[in-house]
Parts: sequence; structure tokens; C-alpha cells
Amino acid sequence: MAYTVPKLTDYSAGALERASAELLSALGKEAAVVKNEEEWRIFRDRWMARKNGILTQINDVWLKGAPKEAKRVTGQSVNLVKAQVEEKVDGVKARLQIPHFPTTNLGSEISESEFELEAFSKAGLVDITLPGVHREIGAEHPVIRTTNEIVSVFQKLGYSVAEGPVVETDYYNFEALNFPPNHPARDTQDTLFIAGQQSKAARERLLLRTHTSPVQIRTMEKMRPPLRIVIPGTVHRNDPPDASHSPMFHQVEGLAVDTNITFGDLKGTLDHAMKALFGSSVKTHFRPSFFPFTEPSAEMYVSCFICGGSGKRGAEPCRPCKQTGWIEILGCGMVDPNVFEFVKDNGYDPKKVSGFAFGMGADRIALLKYGVDDIQLFFQGDVRFLQQWG
Ligand code: PHE
Repeated sequence: MAYTVPKLTDYSAGALERASAELLSALGKEAAVVKNEEEWRIFRDRWMARKNGILTQINDVWLKGAPKEAKRVTGQSVNLVKAQVEEKVDGVKARLQIPHFPTTNLGSEISESEFELEAFSKAGLVDITLPGVHREIGAEHPVIRTTNEIVSVFQKLGYSVAEGPVVETDYYNFEALNFPPNHPARDTQDTLFIAGQQSKAARERLLLRTHTSPVQIRTMEKMRPPLRIVIPGTVHRNDPPDASHSPMFHQVEGLAVDTNITFGDLKGTLDHAMKALFGSSVKTHFRPSFFPFTEPSAEMYVSCFICGGSGKRGAEPCRPCKQTGWIEILGCGMVDPNVFEFVKDNGYDPKKVSGFAFGMGADRIALLKYGVDDIQLFFQGDVRFLQQWG
């Protein structure tokens, strides 16, 4: 008669031992007569099937039925029995040299997923002759692509990439960049503040960064000069969306600090970068400007690569450069000594080092490069638009 799991009334150590021994002797006898793969499967399932296999039964009948005080010893016996059953089932499999996966009629092993598919197919659960789901390989977003292009131009010049948080403190976004509290220059970068910060000191309050410049400070705190970094990232401003504004946009910032860095280095570096990005025939020019964290500051323009600087496209006026022949690309300048004062302890003594910084809008450059006339298109996620970069 085939072995069945008995109910236990006596949970003494001796009784448990007897019940286990009886089970294991049945296991041994059954194992000895298994002759082929098919029989082994039946044997395995009888003992180990999760649903109603003998191991499941002893768990349910012996362990769950045990009185509280006998739970521990019963658990130990059950675990011993489990280990032996598993060992036996594996042992028989090894004796019969059953491969891990069933063989195909070509004799090679097939993979687990193929095996499952075949099983599902046989059971009528899937129709493997139906065409599969075709997933398109995504396209790089034009703004990300442009960002990567800009970054790689500077990487070739020996710059490394630095990043920082989008949710920033007032200190890094403004104060350490020489925007004192209540300074009117803050109004040029109106931002979105995180709510409920009133109990914090002003410099600790959180906001969405308005530019990537705070990463200048964060990096100078961590790394000593000389330093050459590019900083790509997302920024926010309190600007209502229109064709050329978005409350969220992207910048690429740059910072170079060393001894004897001059405005000539800034001009040479940026002129090279613009030629690498827009073609070797573009010219650059600089106009005085103001940023609290650079002195002197400038806006850099490139000659319009759409009309070639003439301001006209045939008889039509050139719109991207507003007929001026020049397009504003970025803000830049020599790092203000007041900024170095905030990181002086890390080797940035304004008497010993100098540097330049610049920041440009990657979205704006992408608009110009690809001739897109509305920045909103970049962020609406319309696949018909984005597919053009696929
Ligand atoms: N952070 C400035 C802006 O967002 C750009 C800038 C960066 C200007 C670095 C000078 C130097 O407008």
C-alpha cells in the first residue's frame, strides 16, 4: 500500500522520530523503483508538488496540527524530512542522468523560457503562431541629444561632468553666487519655492534651482583647483509658458579655474566650442552684461548660422536672428572674487586663482539647430514630433 501521511496524536520526540522514519523508509522504497524521466517526474511531484505533495501535507498535518509546546520539535523534524526528500529527488534525477531542461528532438537542450512557451502552447494557453508585440527602439530626445553634443565638445577639451540637485537651497542658488538677500538681481531669476519652509533660516530654504550655477559652488567645495567642469541639468523659473519660454528648461554650465586664467581663455574656449557645435564658419562676439557671480560679465552671440549673418533669407527677413545677423547663445564672465570667498578654504584664494564661467540654454540651442519654432513641442511628448529624431 502506498504511503500516506498519518495524523499525529502523540507529539513526543520519540513519536516524531518514528513517524519520520516511516516516511523516509517509504521514500527510499519508492525512489529505488523509479526507472525513467517520466516516472521521476511523477515521483518528484508526489513528494514535492507545492499543491498537496507529501512535504506540503506534513507541513499542514504535522506542523500546523501540533500543540503550541510541540511546535519547535515538530518544526525541526519536518525540516529534516524536507531536506532528505529534496536530496532523494535530486539523487534519483542524477542517477537517471535527467538533464535540467527537456531535450528537443534535435537532442540539444532548450532554454527554460522556450520550455515554458512550449508547455503553455500545448495547454492551449498561448498561440505561438500569432505575431509578437513590436516595440520601437526609442529615439534620443532632441534636447538631450543637444545637451550631450555640447557636453562632449567640452569633454574633448579636458572638462569633466559635474551634476547637482534640482531642488536647491537659497544658499547655493543665490547667496554663495553673490546674490545677497533682497538683492534686486534675484528678481531676474524668479523661481518656485518649496512650501512650508518659513521656520528655516533663509539660506536653508529650498527652491527649484533657477540655473546650473549652484553646482559651481558645490563642486568647488569638493574639488580643489585647477578645475574644469561642464554641468548639464534641468532648471526652473517662474515664467509662463509660450513659444520661447518654459517653466522647466535645460542648461549646460561651464567652469574653469586655475592660476592666470584670463578673459582671452574664455573667448578662445567658447569660440572653439561654437565652431564645433554650429560649423567652422560661425563667428562669435561678446557684449557687456551683468551677472552677480561674474565680473566682468558678457553675453556671447554667434553669427546667424541660418542666414549666414546677412539677416535675410532671400527676399524674406531672417526670423531666428530677428534680422540682426547675430543670435544670443549664452551668458559668461570671469568668476567674481566674491564667489571664490565662499570656497576660499578649499584652495580658491581669489588672490591666487582666477577662472571663467558660462551658461547656455540647451533647449534654445536645440530650437535653433533643428529649426523648431515652439519650445513647448519639446515637452508635450507628442510621438509624431519626437519620432523625427528616431
Ligand atoms: N547662470 C546664468 C543664467 O542662468 C548664466 C551664466 C552662467 C552666466 C555662468 C555667467 C556665468 O542666466
